[in-house]
Amino acid sequence: MSVQAPKPDAPAKESMGIDPFERNWIRFSIVLLVVFAAGITAAGFAMGFQVPGEEQRVDPATVTDSGPFSDPGLRPIPGSDNEFELYVVSRQFFFEPSIVEIPVGATVDIYVTSVDVQHGYKIQDTNINMQVVPGHVSHLRHTFDQVGEFPVICHEYCGLGHAAMAGAINVTGGGS
Ligand code: CUA
Repeated sequence: MSVQAPKPDAPAKESMGIDPFERNWIRFSIVLLVVFAAGITAAGFAMGFQVPGEEQRVDPATVTDSGPFSDPGLRPIPGSDNEFELYVVSRQFFFEPSIVEIPVGATVDIYVTSVDVQHGYKIQDTNINMQVVPGHVSHLRHTFDQVGEFPVICHEYCGLGHAAMAGAINVTGGGS
C-alpha cells in the first residue's frame, strides 16, 4: 500500500466537489427563495393581499332556503363600528343583490356563493376578485375607503347571459 499524492491538476477552489461557478448559482437561488418568501409574507401580512378563502361547503340546491344566503344583502355586524357582512348569491345571470350601497370607510366581509354554475365576483378598482364555485362560499374582507361607484362583474364564463352579469358597489357618504 502506498499513499497517493494529491493530483497536481485538481481545481484549487473546489469545495465539497462543487464547482465555484455552480456554487454561486446555488447561493443565488437560495437568496431568490428568501426574497420571494419575504415578498409573499409582506404582501400577505403588511399589504393585506389574501386569496379567497374556502369558507365553508354548502349545498347549492338548498343554500338559499335558510341561513344568511336566504336573505342576501348588506348588514351591520352588531356591536361593531362601521363593519358589515355582505352576502351575495350568484345565479345565471345576475347577482343578488346586484347594487349594494356601502358607507365610506366600512370594512366588509364579503361572502359569495353560487346556486348553479361557476361564476366570478370582481369589484373593479379593488383587490376583490373571487371564483364563485357552486357548493362553496368564497370570502374576502375589504375596507371601502373611497367614495364612488365600483362596477362588479362576473369574470367567469357562465352561459349565454354572462356578458350581462354585472352589478355595482356604491360607496357613499363622507363629509358632504
Ligand atoms: Cu356569471 Cu359569467
